[in-house]
Amino acid sequence: MNILVTGGAGYIGSHTVVELINAGHGVVIVDNFSNSKPEAISRVEQITSSKIKFYEADIRDKAAMEHIFSENKFDCCIHFAGFKAVGESVIKPGKYYENNIVGTLVLLDVMRKYACKNIIFSSSATVYGDPAFVPITEKCPKGLCTNPYGKTKSMLEDILTDFHTADLKTNDPDPWNIVLLRYFNPVGAHKSGLIGEDPKGIPNNLMPYITQVAAGKLDHLTVFGNDYKTHDGTGVRDYIHVVDLAKGHVKALAAIEKKCGVAVYNLGTGKGYSVLDIVHAFEEANDLKIPYEIGPRRPGDIAECYSSPEKARAELGWTAENGIVEMCRDSWNWQKNNPDGY
Ligand code: NAD
Ligand code: UD1
Repeated sequence: MNILVTGGAGYIGSHTVVELINAGHGVVIVDNFSNSKPEAISRVEQITSSKIKFYEADIRDKAAMEHIFSENKFDCCIHFAGFKAVGESVIKPGKYYENNIVGTLVLLDVMRKYACKNIIFSSSATVYGDPAFVPITEKCPKGLCTNPYGKTKSMLEDILTDFHTADLKTNDPDPWNIVLLRYFNPVGAHKSGLIGEDPKGIPNNLMPYITQVAAGKLDHLTVFGNDYKTHDGTGVRDYIHVVDLAKGHVKALAAIEKKCGVAVYNLGTGKGYSVLDIVHAFEEANDLKIPYEIGPRRPGDIAECYSSPEKARAELGWTAENGIVEMCRDSWNWQKNNPDGY
């Protein structure tokens, strides 16, 4: 397939482009580098020994998007472009609604105009809110998102579903095919150490924070609360290696080919690890010490969140292959080789 990857220079996008190329797909990237650098694309070219076509453009720029679609014929779009910082979204909600919602609406409009109505969308486990049950299946009702970032994910899932429903109601002979991938907690990096997560400023998420403590850039980790109802009191999450996540997108193309209508899949490992489990696993995998202190809970955090990845296994033939050791090892390998990011 020939695939447009929006946000393809970003953390998950760059790893997905590698796997798409490895699987023999054609790829074109559009990215405005608002949270990434062109260097990421050069590194992907190095890993895959291929030349990648890319456009520096904002997906909200309709004329630029039309230009891209007029120069290429796409079978599907994998849509990563968007802002993702939870804390910032609370302070600057307009920025998030503008970029994530308006950007996606412009993209969908141009896709329809150029008769490409197949899209794989980066959603998040955040749409489950404080989940009704764990392990979370796709049947678990969506929950209350406490921040604008999470709301954009939930709203975009609804918007995309409405687009498909409208096609059915109007007997459109070519209805939208939409795969909503709900990621759990992506961590790790490509084994080459050439691409990885490159957060700006002090990281908000656990694994990049730990790697920066390991590198001596940060003094210690603060564990956000040890009074949750979990096996050691610290928050439990479903960490997934970014390369496994990337492969999930390649597998999801099969659903598009089968004209899935709207299909929702969790992409997680099904295993929950606490904050302290991760600290200890990181120490063991890399033979390092991570100093930490117990601090108060972070507002908006939940006790536990982990997936049932069964639907993706049964329908897409996808299962995460990397375990916690690989996740910790590859996260550190990336940080060690790229102390200042790209
Ligand atoms: P990222 O910030 O590394 O990548 C996003 C990319 O999109 C960046 O390269 C950025 O420059 C680009 N971009 C942003 N707005 C754009 C615009 N208007 N036009 C063109 N390009 C634009 O983030 P990521 O971690 O790779 O996440 C990718 C997607 O997955 C996002 O939609 C994110 O919300 C979603 N997601 C991420 C996580 C996570 O933990 N990383 C979890 C769940 C969902
Ligand atoms: C966060 C976002 C969520 C997003 C997800 C993946 C919040 C409230 N939620 O989820 O919307 O989809 O990232 O990008 O920000 N922790 C510490 N100390 C730290 C950092 C984290 O103890 O310095 C703990 C957290 O309390 C949590 C776990 O580590 O229990 C994982 O945190 P994080 O990596 O931020 O991911 P989530 O909270 O799952």
